[in-house]
Amino acid sequence: MDEIMKRGNTRKFKDQPVGDEEIQQLLRAAMQARTAGNQTPWHFIVVRNEALIKALAHNSMTAGPIRKAPVALVLLGDSRGLTFPESWTMDLAAAAENILIEAEHLGLGTLWISVYPHEDRIRHIRSLFEMPLEVTPFCIIPVGYPADRPIRLNHFDASRIHYDAF
Ligand SMILES: Cc1cc2nc3c(=O)[nH]c(=O)nc-3n(C[C@H](O)[C@H](O)[C@H](O)COP(=O)(O)O)c2cc1C
Repeated sequence: MDEIMKRGNTRKFKDQPVGDEEIQQLLRAAMQARTAGNQTPWHFIVVRNEALIKALAHNSMTAGPIRKAPVALVLLGDSRGLTFPESWTMDLAAAAENILIEAEHLGLGTLWISVYPHEDRIRHIRSLFEMPLEVTPFCIIPVGYPADRPIRLNHFDASRIHYDAF
């Protein structure tokens, strides 16, 4: 719960590498997410190459913070062999959220950068990495040690809770 309440978005990263072990830990957390019918439609590209990191930072107007991150994770959904094809985005979102929470636990900063459903952003990622057409980029998560204290907002709003009626 602490990680959920305290987590903030990191948009500035220290010039400090993130180890493979930490990245493995984030991906373990991602793959612990529940998925519809246990269909696990995900793939993950771990990007450390500087040129690719820079290219990802140009994916959209909101992707700029990726530029200074030592690592970026690209989350992809694979539509092949799914029992519940309409659920893949929810599956990927659950995995993304697990990454953000585990990163907070490890003292790492992250940000959720949207790709799907923007066709131009999807095309751009497809141009950077070869992937089958059935595989669709979902989001990018830059990972690094935070260079500034992320702002931690409290979003609790009692007026959004309804009891036995809307
Ligand atoms: C589906 C989704 C897409 C998002 N896309 C972006 C994005 O492209 N760029 C960005 O800077 N932040 C993005 N965010 C982060 C949100 O802007 C941020 O979570 C929101 O403003 C609330 O702020 P907080 O997380 O600090 O509470 C995204 C978050 C979600 C859940």
